[in-house]
Amino acid sequence: MDRHGKHDGDPVLERFHFLVNAPALFNAVATAVEVRIFHFLAEHPRSGFEEIRVHTEMPAHQLRVLLQAVCTTGLLRREDGRYLNSDVAGDLLASDNEDSWGHVIVGWKEVYYPAFVHMTKALKAGTNLALDSYPGDEPTLYQRLSRNSELEAVFHRAMSAFTLQSVDALVEREEFASVRRLLDVGGGDGTTSARLVARHPELVSTVFDMPSVSKLGEDKAAAAYPDRVELHPGDIFNDAFPVGADAVLFSHVLEIFSEDQILGLMKKAYDSLPEGGKVFVYGYNVSDDETTGIFGARLGLYFNVLASGQGMAYPARDYEKWLCQVGFDDVKTVTGLPYEHGLTLGVK
Ligand SMILES: C[S@@+](CC[C@H](N)C(=O)[O-])C[C@H]1O[C@@H](n2cnc3c(N)ncnc32)[C@H](O)[C@@H]1O
Repeated sequence: MDRHGKHDGDPVLERFHFLVNAPALFNAVATAVEVRIFHFLAEHPRSGFEEIRVHTEMPAHQLRVLLQAVCTTGLLRREDGRYLNSDVAGDLLASDNEDSWGHVIVGWKEVYYPAFVHMTKALKAGTNLALDSYPGDEPTLYQRLSRNSELEAVFHRAMSAFTLQSVDALVEREEFASVRRLLDVGGGDGTTSARLVARHPELVSTVFDMPSVSKLGEDKAAAAYPDRVELHPGDIFNDAFPVGADAVLFSHVLEIFSEDQILGLMKKAYDSLPEGGKVFVYGYNVSDDETTGIFGARLGLYFNVLASGQGMAYPARDYEKWLCQVGFDDVKTVTGLPYEHGLTLGVK
């Protein structure tokens, strides 16, 4: 029996074959996004090759290669020589809406994936060596991006679009119904806070993030909800947490950092809250045995190779242990939320 036959029907082999070709296919899909093939086919379904060529202004041979690659992913279909979007491509990639996966793919292509060529060296060195490609001496990507406003905008557009894929599970939590003043630590451009105040009419939120990121929020969340989303520019480690909140949210933030830094941030949250105040830790959780979670896996690698040199999509039990350690009670986790998310809660 040949080597392939030996593993016939084994899903690991199937996944392996997809995986080894995935970097090329990912880039083909990113190119199709950038030359707006999915957009074009949404407006002109069942277009012929020549119509797509005129739209993309790509040489015929190169377009042929690109279309073949994207068809192998199933995102595009070819029927009777004409092309159309799959349902998934039509939903996820054919618009410029805030939540389009197109923004995510461009962000990952520009920022995440170039960094991964440094993975072996970075993991062995125990530091985020890929950050050397970005000017500056600050220890995290978030800080260094503030020197490149164009790339910072691409990065936050991607982050916001990716957050929107999973934000509903957070926004719909009944625990927010009793919150009046939220502190959204590392709240980015305010995408999550905007969704929360839209859903909970009594809620006002303060978004605490770096000054360059707060600037992005001025045109977005704070512009949409001028009286209910407030921006608080600063450094979450070096500056005090603003007072007056009855709940603190860490959404996709703690996982960037080390245990010591997380304990420090949780303690600041605890100290800033009144008795009965709540803490919410929302984000990716790998499984407790640390064997599953592909979104979490990608994130952990990205943090360690590029973003911060530490952190991971910690299992929920780590967050529970740390919240208890700094003094929170009634600590529990809501597991199984979409996109490998969990919500760990505690009360002061
Ligand atoms: C992964 S994003 C999460 C954004 C948002 N909470 C969400 O769920 O989409 C992490 C955020 O932490 C912010 N951040 C990282 N280090 C920071 C620091 N030292 N001070 C303030 N904000 C920081 C980044 O600017 C970024 O907006």
